[in-house]
Amino acid sequence: MDIGLLGATGPAGMALAARLASVGHDVTVGSRSKYRALEVRDTIAGEWPGRDLSLDSADNLGAAEAELVVIATPWNAATETAHSVRTKLRGKVVICMSNALSKVGREFQPLVPPRGSVSGSVQAELPDSYVAAAFHHVPAKELANLDEPVVSDILICSDHQKATATVSDLVSEIPGMRPLDAGELSNATAIEAFTAVLLQLNVRYKTRVALKLIGIDDADG
Ligand SMILES: NC(=O)c1ccc[n+]([C@@H]2O[C@H](COP(=O)([O-])OP(=O)(O)OC[C@H]3O[C@@H](n4cnc5c(N)ncnc54)[C@H](OP(=O)(O)O)[C@@H]3O)[C@@H](O)[C@H]2O)c1
Repeated sequence: MDIGLLGATGPAGMALAARLASVGHDVTVGSRSKYRALEVRDTIAGEWPGRDLSLDSADNLGAAEAELVVIATPWNAATETAHSVRTKLRGKVVICMSNALSKVGREFQPLVPPRGSVSGSVQAELPDSYVAAAFHHVPAKELANLDEPVVSDILICSDHQKATATVSDLVSEIPGMRPLDAGELSNATAIEAFTAVLLQLNVRYKTRVALKLIGIDDADG
């Protein structure tokens, strides 16, 4: 599948771009600057010389031409970024992985954006697209290490079954990941806010936690 990532020059988008390319997708690294995108594309390719990664680069408008688009900007840029490419996103599944958080001293605090979540704001901005919230809890460093699986549950929520199904299929392709249907987009409020807890645990225990829920058989998940 052709996948474009907006804001893929940061750790999260860069890691997801590499990971999605590693499982056979044609991935475009997007940025506000096509030069920055090219630099990051070349950095990823240079890190994995032995792998045949299908990676391209473009400005965000070019990356939004893809069949499926991921928004990987900071929370306060997600809606504006979605707006800037909205005509390209009509009828498409759009994944939003942004978390609305603020770091105050050593504490991470959840914020509540309009519509309750970043994903909710983006869906309101893109009424003709199928927005899904996903990948909020996966640490970029582990996601970027293509030599290891990413042992993690990925909570997916959306108001569109089509989006949940598409994103679940995508997640299932990544070694170690398990997609979980976490309901409607209103649940993105809790999913995004919970990231503050996980980041706080990372600080407290000097680690990088990942989410793994018990009680759901893999066959059901
Ligand atoms: N880091 C993680 O481990 C992780 C894991 C899961 C989810 N997330 C979420 O993923 C999102 C991205 O995380 P990150 O750490 O990669 O963020 P980041 O490095 O702060 O930002 C990612 C990219 O967004 C673009 N950007 C920044 N400000 C912008 C603006 N005002 N308008 C448009 N684009 C802007 C920049 O790309 P250009 O300047 O090249 O356009 C930047 O490189 C966050 O919301 C985070 O909560 C992060």
